[in-house]
Amino acid sequence: MAEELTPATPEETEEPIKQRKNGLYREVSDELAENMKSGWADTELTGLAPIAQAEHTAARRAALSARFPGERLVIPAGNLKTRSNDTEYSFRASTEYAYLTGDQTQDGVLVLEPTAGGHRATIYLLPRSNRENGEFWLDGQGELWVGRRHSLAEAEQLLGIPAKDVRELPAALQEATGPVRNVRGHDAAIEAALTDKVTAERDEELRVYLSEARLVKDAFEIAELQKACDSTARGFEDVVKVLDKAEATSERYIEGTFFLRARVEGNDIGYGSICAAGPHATTLHWVRNDGAVRSGELLLLDAGVETTELYTADVTRTLPINGRFNEIQRRIYDAVYEAQEAGIAAVKPGADYRDFHDAAQRVLAEKLVEWGLLGDLDVEKVLELGLQRRWTLHGTGHMLGMDVHDCAAARTASYVDATLEPGMCLTVEPGLYFQADDLTVPEEYRGIGVRIEDDILVTEDGNRNLSASLPRQADEVEAWMARLKG
Ligand code: GLY
Ligand code: MN
Ligand code: MN
Repeated sequence: MAEELTPATPEETEEPIKQRKNGLYREVSDELAENMKSGWADTELTGLAPIAQAEHTAARRAALSARFPGERLVIPAGNLKTRSNDTEYSFRASTEYAYLTGDQTQDGVLVLEPTAGGHRATIYLLPRSNRENGEFWLDGQGELWVGRRHSLAEAEQLLGIPAKDVRELPAALQEATGPVRNVRGHDAAIEAALTDKVTAERDEELRVYLSEARLVKDAFEIAELQKACDSTARGFEDVVKVLDKAEATSERYIEGTFFLRARVEGNDIGYGSICAAGPHATTLHWVRNDGAVRSGELLLLDAGVETTELYTADVTRTLPINGRFNEIQRRIYDAVYEAQEAGIAAVKPGADYRDFHDAAQRVLAEKLVEWGLLGDLDVEKVLELGLQRRWTLHGTGHMLGMDVHDCAAARTASYVDATLEPGMCLTVEPGLYFQADDLTVPEEYRGIGVRIEDDILVTEDGNRNLSASLPRQADEVEAWMARLKG
C-alpha cells in the first residue's frame, strides 16, 4: 500500500526487517518474514550435461596455467553497473572470464591456484539465495526478483570447474601468500583485496597473454563466429524489408529492427549499430542514428549480432535506399568493392598482417588519382605521403572474436607486425568518405560514404568469408534488395 512506502534512507535500513524493492523500503511483519521461510520445494538439478564448450575452456585454462607456473591467477567476470538507484545496465561478463569458463555470471571469479603439477581451477560464484535469512525476497538481487541462479553443485556440473561461494573470496585472497596476478578493470572488490599483492606490470602481462591467446580461434569459436555472421545476415535482410518504415520515421527504425534480431537470436549487438543514412555515412562512428532516411541516398549499416556465447560479427553494407545506385554512388561503391576484393585476396596463412590493408589502400589510391582528386601526383607518391587517407580515414580491418576489436591488448609483434595463421579471424573493411563540406572534391562526391566489411577466417589454404551470404557486388546488392523489398 502506498502509505507503507517511504524513501530509502540509511536510518531506515537499521529497522528490523524491511524489504528493499523499487528503491524503496517496505516494512515486513515478523509473521510474514517467518511465513516466507518455508513451504518451498527443493529444485536442485542433478545429472546436468557439461556446456558445449567445456572441453575448449579446459584447454584454454591449461594453456594459461602453462604460461604462469607457480602463480595464483584471478580472472573476474565483473559486476553490475548502476544506471540509477537500483536500476542496472544489462550485464556482459568480461571477455577473459567468459573465454576461460564459458560462464557469464555477474560477480563470478575464476581463480587458478598453483599446485605442484600446474594449477587447480576454482570458480567463485554467488550460491542460491538463502531462504532462512530472507535474502531471496528481501534483497533487490534475491532470486525471487531477478530469477533463479545455479547452485554451486549445478555450476560445477555445467562448467566442469569446482565452485565455491564468492563471498569467501576477498578474505581468502587477502590471506593467500605467493605471487598473484589479476585481470584489472572488472571487479573493484577483488582489486581492493589484492592491492598489496599485485603490480600493474605483472597484471598487464596476464591481460596481454589472454588477448594473444585469442588470436587463433578454436573450433568452437569458429562455429560461434559463423553463427554470429548468419544471424547478422538475417538482421540485414530484416532492415532491407523495412526501409520504407525507416523513411517514414528515422535511422532509429533500422537500429531497432537489427536489435530485435540480435536479441532474439543472440545475446545482444556486439557494438553500437551504425545506421548512417545520407551524409551521416561519412561519420565513422555515427551511432546517434536519429537522422532522416531518404530515397536516393545511401545507407551505411555497420552492425553485428553477438551470440549467446559472446562472439560477435562485424559487417557493413552500403545500400541504395531506393534499391538502385545512381551513377556517382556506383562509381564510388565499385571502387570500394574492388579494394575489398584485393584486401580479401591478401588474407592467407603466412601473409603479413599488414598486407590486406596495403592491398586495399593501393586500389583506393589508384581510384582517387584516376578521378583527379590528387592533382598530378602518381599513386606511389600518394601512398608514400598517405594522402589517400583524407578519404579512406581508417585501417582496413582488425581481429574479430568475443570483442569486436578483439585481441586489442596483444603486442604489436604478435598482431600488427605478425603473419596470419589458420584460425585467425579478421575484418576486411575498406571505405571512402567524402565529407559534405569537403571543398577539394567535386560537388557530386560530397556527402557520400561507402564501406563494405566482411568477416574473414584464415584457413589452411587461404580464407573463408564468414559473411559471404550477404551480397557485396553492386548488381547483386540491387537484385537482393529488389527480392526483399518485393
Ligand atoms: N564496427 C566497428 C568497426 O567496424 O570496426
Ligand atoms: Mn570492423
Ligand atoms: Mn564494423
